[in-house]
Amino acid sequence: MYLKHLSLTNYRNYVHLEQDFPERAILVQGENAQGKTNLLEAIYYLATTRSPLIGSDRHLLNWQVREEPLPFARLVGEVERSGAGERIEITLVREGQGEGRLARRIRVNGVDKRAVDLLGRLNVVLFLPQDTDLVCGAPALRRRYLDVTLCQVDALYTRHLQRYNRVLVQRNSLLRRLRERRDDPAQLSYWDEQVARWGALVTARRVQAVRRLEEVAAAAQPELTGGAERLALRYEASIPLPAVEEAPAGPDEAPPALVESALAALGRARPRDVGAAMTTVGPHRDELRFLVGGVDMGLLGSRGQQRTVALALKLAEARFMERETGEVPVFLLDDVLSELDRARGQYLLRAVDAARQVIITTTDLAQFPQEFLERAVRWRVKRGAIVEG
Ligand SMILES: Nc1ncnc2c1ncn2[C@@H]1O[C@H](COP(=O)(O)OP(=O)(O)OP(=O)(O)O)[C@@H](O)[C@H]1O
Ligand SMILES: [Mg+2]
Repeated sequence: MYLKHLSLTNYRNYVHLEQDFPERAILVQGENAQGKTNLLEAIYYLATTRSPLIGSDRHLLNWQVREEPLPFARLVGEVERSGAGERIEITLVREGQGEGRLARRIRVNGVDKRAVDLLGRLNVVLFLPQDTDLVCGAPALRRRYLDVTLCQVDALYTRHLQRYNRVLVQRNSLLRRLRERRDDPAQLSYWDEQVARWGALVTARRVQAVRRLEEVAAAAQPELTGGAERLALRYEASIPLPAVEEAPAGPDEAPPALVESALAALGRARPRDVGAAMTTVGPHRDELRFLVGGVDMGLLGSRGQQRTVALALKLAEARFMERETGEVPVFLLDDVLSELDRARGQYLLRAVDAARQVIITTTDLAQFPQEFLERAVRWRVKRGAIVEG
């Protein structure tokens, strides 16, 4: 698949952009603070309905229009996929005055849709200089990484995750009332069952995805390190995982042994959970680890090793998406060559060559080999506008 056209209105520093995107490598060059990251962020937002950067949607609205009576931002992407075209449109409108909330309207081919219905229509893999944080940062980043990857390829997972998050909120608010002795402890069994069931569905899918990611990441790692290192991915669940995995009986059927294990863990955690007024076991507490030669890269890897692992993981994500959906995703590379040494940079450029479309930003064209400069389309971005050539 590839992005054929992008139109932005009042999105960050793009007041108005209408741009055709060719089906090939696009090299976007620009000085600092001109809109390179914003451009990739917009495409990522169309694909995933969220920004890869921390912060609320409110910051997406162009600063200059914020004082207008009904400020809005609009993103429209035309996507070509297996010969068919689709028009994805997201509009953000501020409700009320000042720093009011943004209402979001999503349409596909002119028809209103929910955010979940958008996932999988445009698949992207985004490389950011700060991707290394995936390896050495907080566990929440790794869970979010797994969730965003899976949500892009699996609508069922998106639904299960939503359900899980919803019942988790319910259980936590009951725990809070129990701590204050304002409710009946007998109610907890119901929420334990709900949390165990939806949680088991989330866990099972994540475990399976991690295994597939590992297969491809392990294949990329030796090439990135000259054959020296082998990467293993380990999903550490906060509940004991049953040794034998069962095939699910239906789309919403959680593996019984996993549900049982989750229920038992929730039972054991009960006194602690009531004391803390929150659920302390489940997929929202799980961890993903990266091991090279048995060493946890997040804790003990060198900076260079962590960077390589992050890169292998991103490439694996693309292969994983391709296997799951049959389509090579669009690659978005934000100024990543400046983070990599020459050999790894070259490897990355070769690896993304298989994609129908790659969009790479840079401040410095000298980072690219002549051969790449010759075959890529070259754009310049300046103060929120794109100039071709
Ligand atoms: N909501 C907004 N409205 C207007 N401008 C914004 C908004 N949010 C961010 N900006 C500005 O947009 C400009 C471009 O940001 P962007 O991150 O895309 O730059 P960049 O080209 O990637 O730069 P660098 O090379 O430093 O990474 C910045 O000056 C930033 O402050
Ligand atoms: Mg940038």
